[in-house]
Amino acid sequence: MIFLMDLQMMLLDVIYFILRNSVRVVMRPRTKPIDGELVLITGSGGGLGRLFAQEFTKHGAEVVLWDINGTLNEQTAKLVREMGGKAHTYTVDVTNREDVYRNAELVRKDLGRDVTMLVNNAGVVAGERMLDCPDELIERTMKVNCHALFWTVKAFLPQMKAQNHGHIITIASILGLFSTACVEDYCASKFAAVGFHESLAHELLTEEFEGVKTTLVCPYIVDTGMFEGCKIREEVELLLPPLEPQYCVEQAMNAILIDQPLVCIPRLTYLPFLCRALLPWESNVVTYRFMGSDRCMYPFIDARKKQMSNTPVTVA
Ligand SMILES: NC(=O)c1ccc[n+]([C@@H]2O[C@H](COP(=O)([O-])OP(=O)(O)OC[C@H]3O[C@@H](n4cnc5c(N)ncnc54)[C@H](O)[C@@H]3O)[C@@H](O)[C@H]2O)c1
Ligand SMILES: *[C@@H]1O[C@H](CO)[C@@H](O)[C@H](O)[C@H]1NC(C)=O
Repeated sequence: MIFLMDLQMMLLDVIYFILRNSVRVVMRPRTKPIDGELVLITGSGGGLGRLFAQEFTKHGAEVVLWDINGTLNEQTAKLVREMGGKAHTYTVDVTNREDVYRNAELVRKDLGRDVTMLVNNAGVVAGERMLDCPDELIERTMKVNCHALFWTVKAFLPQMKAQNHGHIITIASILGLFSTACVEDYCASKFAAVGFHESLAHELLTEEFEGVKTTLVCPYIVDTGMFEGCKIREEVELLLPPLEPQYCVEQAMNAILIDQPLVCIPRLTYLPFLCRALLPWESNVVTYRFMGSDRCMYPFIDARKKQMSNTPVTVA
C-alpha cells in the first residue's frame, strides 16, 4: 500500500518536473542574488575563466582566481579591478593536490572567510593523435580535467556542507556526453568529469544538503583557441558555428543563477546527446559521417602540429 502511494507520488513528481522545466524554457525563473558570495574560479587566466571572473563580478561577487599561469591570471585580476570588483590571485597547479590544499588554506587565512562557489573550469587537451602523443601529455589531460576536481572539491566542500550553503560548478564539455574521433584523452577526462559531478550531485541530495547547489556546464566548441581549427561540414557549421566565448559564459551564468543542474550550450547539442542514448551505434556513425563530425578533429590536430614545430612543447 505504501509502495503504491510512493509510486503515485513519484510519478506525479516526475510529471511536475517535466512540466516545470518545459515552462522554464520560455519563462525564466528568478535568478538568485550572488553579491556577497566568494567565488573561486580555476583556469581563470584562460578564455572562459576570465569571462566567468568578469560575469561574477558584474553580479557583485568577489572572486578568487586560480591559474597555473600567473601572468594571464594577473591580467584577469586587472580587468576585474577595472570593473570595480575584488579579485585575489593565486598561482596554483590544480593537478598538485598538496598545492591545492595549501592554497585553499591560504585563501581562508588571507580572506578570513569561506569560498561559497567553486567553478572548476581549468582544462587542457593533448591535441595529438593518441599513438603519437607522449604519455605525460595524456596523463596531464586526465589530471587537469578529472583528478583536480577531487582535490578542489575536497578542499572547499566541507565548509559549504557545514553552512548548507554553496554551489559547485563543473565546466565539462559536450565531449563529456558524447564523443568523436581522435580526442580520446579529452573525452575520457570529460566523461569522467561528468560522472564525478553527477555522483556528487546525487550525494548532496541524498544526504539532504539542499543548500549546496550543483551545475554541470557542457559547452560545444567555443572560440577560445583551445580547439582552433576543428571543423565540421560547412552546411552544418552554419547551423552549429563555434560559440562566442561571451555567449557561452552568459548562457552558463543564466543556468548557474537559477541553480539549474545541467546546461548544454547551445540547446541544439541536446539532440546528439539524446541520439547517442536512443539510436543504434551505427545510426550515429552515419550521422557523424554526414555532418563531418567524424573527422572534425583532423584539421585541429594538423594546426596543433604546425604550432608545435615552431615552439617545442614542454611537458610538466
Ligand atoms: N574552448 C572550447 O572549445 C571548450 C569547449 C567545451 C568545454 N571547454 C572547457 O572549458 C574550460 C575552459 O576552456 P578555455 O577554452 O577557456 O581554455 P583556455 O586554454 O583558454 O584556458 C584554460 C586555463 O586553464 C589553465 N590551466 C591549465 N592547466 C592548469 C593547471 N594544472 N592548474 C591551473 N590552471 C591550469 C591555463 O593556464 C588556462 O589559463 C576547460 O575545462 C575546457 O575543457 C572548452
Ligand atoms: C603564460 O601564458 C603566456 C601566454 O600564453 C605565455 O607566453 C607564458 O609563457 C605563460 N607563462 C607561464 C609561466 O607558463
